[in-house]
Amino acid sequence: MTPQERIAELTDRLNFYNYQYYQNSISEVDDFTFDQLLAELADLENKHPELRRPDSPTSRVGGTVSKEFSTVYHRFPMLSLGNTYSEEDLVEFDNRVRKGLNGQEYEYVCELKFDGVALSLTYENGVLVQGATRGDGVRGDDITNNIRTIRTVPLRVTGPDIPALFEVRGEGFLPLAEFERINKEREDIGEPLLANPRNAASGTFKQQDSAAVARRRLDCYLYSFLSEPEVFQTHEDSLVALKKWGFNVSQTWRKCADIREVMTFINEWETKRFDLPLGTDGIVIKVNRYDQQRELGYTAKSPRWAIAFKYKALAASTVLNDIRYQVGRTGAVTPVAMLTPVLLAGTIVKRASLHNANEIERLGVMLNDTVFVEKGGEIIPKITGVDLNRRTDQSTPIVYPTTCPACGTPLVRKEGEANFYCPNEKGCPPQRQTRFEHFIQRRAMNIESLGEGKIELLIDRGLAQTPADLYSLTYNDLLGIEKVFLDEETGKRRVVSFREKTVENILSAIERSKAQPFQNVLFALGIRYVGNTTAEKLADYFGSMDAIMTASQEALLAVPDTGPRIAESVVTWFADADNRDFVERLRAAGLNFAGEKKVVEREGDTLDGKTFLYTGTFANFSREELEARIAANGGKVLSGISKKLNYLIVGENAGPSKLEKAQKLNVPMISEDEFLAMLDA
Ligand code: IVH
Repeated sequence: MTPQERIAELTDRLNFYNYQYYQNSISEVDDFTFDQLLAELADLENKHPELRRPDSPTSRVGGTVSKEFSTVYHRFPMLSLGNTYSEEDLVEFDNRVRKGLNGQEYEYVCELKFDGVALSLTYENGVLVQGATRGDGVRGDDITNNIRTIRTVPLRVTGPDIPALFEVRGEGFLPLAEFERINKEREDIGEPLLANPRNAASGTFKQQDSAAVARRRLDCYLYSFLSEPEVFQTHEDSLVALKKWGFNVSQTWRKCADIREVMTFINEWETKRFDLPLGTDGIVIKVNRYDQQRELGYTAKSPRWAIAFKYKALAASTVLNDIRYQVGRTGAVTPVAMLTPVLLAGTIVKRASLHNANEIERLGVMLNDTVFVEKGGEIIPKITGVDLNRRTDQSTPIVYPTTCPACGTPLVRKEGEANFYCPNEKGCPPQRQTRFEHFIQRRAMNIESLGEGKIELLIDRGLAQTPADLYSLTYNDLLGIEKVFLDEETGKRRVVSFREKTVENILSAIERSKAQPFQNVLFALGIRYVGNTTAEKLADYFGSMDAIMTASQEALLAVPDTGPRIAESVVTWFADADNRDFVERLRAAGLNFAGEKKVVEREGDTLDGKTFLYTGTFANFSREELEARIAANGGKVLSGISKKLNYLIVGENAGPSKLEKAQKLNVPMISEDEFLAMLDA
């Protein structure tokens, strides 16, 4: 088989597996096989970049970095919808439609109004050739490479009745579960939390590094189809066809014979929508027949044949009884509002997030105030305001603590940060406890059988001060210890006890954890800003704990994607005697302190201190090889063009926007041959 044939075969096969997996929930192959085939394809594409197909599944993992998105004009303007908030408004809309259609029969299609970012996808001869944001409706940003990372977006569609050129539009979004996952991770490494899924989605789509986009599992629901000439009679037909062609069409839509059925649909989804995997804020009502849509036409801003019914944000009012201050692993103190229980969107709400001290000030809220709580896209409800009419002299100002609620240490606030921190990293009980939780999690040492109160018990009994103590626990230490936990909210008692089987499980999980790879060990240390991905990069680059422990800030800065904040944090962490002692105890316990170093050995110093970026393809190197050679000779690859860039290496088919930008900033451009000469200098 020629490389071209193999590339074509792998592309089609992997696209099919992907479609089956994401659209039909069928696993045709196991993950390992899939990854192997994908790696084979990536390898072939590296060797023969000219044979890479535009619908290659390797684009799902990203890899392209664009400094600026180019502007694209929409073939058809991307309009917005008129909003209504009441049944009366809706009846008026229906009256206008009836009048506009002069007594013809008509039907509606109702869809959920997804809360994300409007996207436009263009397909030519079945291949996704362009993905764009709405922008100002007339022109948007070309974010094709970012859209290709969405697993449910087909990179190619096939079938007998597919037009040669068409556009589909829909809503790109960050699934709620993914939003929570990302925030959990950010909390773990002390990053500020993302405010809500909509902003997070919009920010992600605008990221310039498509690999970063790929790591956040965005998704997209498609809800309209455009082609010239038109191929469908009705909106319903187009939704059915889109689904059949493999597009991700939310199956929540329904055809409604009249406005009363529309009303029923609206009422049905008022609370059911909270079970969907994404945020929604209303219902979109569309006239079904395309000829009737044309007849009704458009106002300057929006179609006359469609309207959005917006649900009122679900709100309730209740009393703020107390504020609890929670201390996280990094010492950040978060205020949590304790409320008189109230029913909201079908669930009882007892607590709400207050984010930080600034938020309390912004709301002007006092203890015993009656407050409004709302449930938006987020799962945790938030306080949105104070009912000042119901404020009494019972209301007392909230005095933000100046000392840690858990250990009494004076709190500190860093320049420019909204949160207060407890600086007593080692002694503060909740910080100690969450450090254990961090250490045992699956992505770290994977000793999760120690969860749910067991760690607290070990700390309580003085059996473990730091996670390193886990490695000297014995059967006799653990057998028989127990503790009764009292749930303050429910008043229920829970007994945690170490019986024979539990002890055996825990000890064997601790033993097994010694085989966790080096990058997990590095992540488990809990160094601020060293999340999973950073730990992996540091491990790949340095290869061992000793190399990282002794690395200077400058050396750390040479690691891909490692900035001054991470570098400083690593150096400071290892400079601490207790931390070093902790590391030595882990070493003595036999944890993996070295991994496979993935960077080529140092070849020379001809590129020392120089920064590079490349564009296009090269005769002598794949992208990975080029990056490796730069690093091996002391240079560094930057992620975008700036004044700091020393050289732009220009290959075949170089991107015009990069060249333009480099020219503007007077960045020297060199050819592949000139780069080779530099290496040999
Ligand atoms: S149809 C002519 N259908 O709402 C406008 N839009 O205000 C055609 N949206 O920009 C849009 N869910 O981002 C349509 N099922 C749905 C939608 C939807 C969300 C968003 C979309 C659009 C905005 C309109």
